[in-house]
Amino acid sequence: GKDKELIRDSWESLGKNKVPHGIVMFTRLFELDPALLTLFNYKTNCGVVPECLSSPEFLEHVTKVMVVIDAAVNHLDDLDSLADFLLNLGRKHQAVGVKTQSFAVVGEALLYMLQCSLGTGYTAALRQAWLNMYTIVVAAMSRGWAK
Ligand code: HEM
Repeated sequence: GKDKELIRDSWESLGKNKVPHGIVMFTRLFELDPALLTLFNYKTNCGVVPECLSSPEFLEHVTKVMVVIDAAVNHLDDLDSLADFLLNLGRKHQAVGVKTQSFAVVGEALLYMLQCSLGTGYTAALRQAWLNMYTIVVAAMSRGWAK
């Protein structure tokens, strides 16, 4: 439907430039919740935003996040097919100390990145379409915290 079209069209150019857009998203994330930095236990100095943002492991994680978003956009017709993958991804994040509550602020950072890159293309309908997809992804990942 209309939601899928809005998501696919907006991702078309964004998805070709994953790292720069991912950096905008994570820069925003750490502005909103600096404590999340401490969960990145890379050997580089990840207690400090600028160092962290330029460390190769961190940029790899940014790429990993964007690849998952890319997969979701490419599976809009059958997001269920990603359920097992997302459950396992949730488990891995539970293991590194992420709390499910943090996904709300990650979502805000995602929307901020979309707003920055799409400008006037960032409409209420587009925002809602992305939020709907993100909510499904987060619900699937959150199953990894279930006891
Ligand atoms: C792995 C942290 C959000 C996708 C990791 C790792 C850490 C981490 C510490 C393990 C080290 C590494 O692979 O770099 C966080 C934090 C997040 C967050 C603090 C925000 C609160 C996300 C989101 C996604 C994602 C939203 C995608 C939707 C991945 C992937 C891996 C990973 C694909 C690799 C898992 C594997 O090794 O199989 N994350 N992450 N992360 N993260 Fe995140």
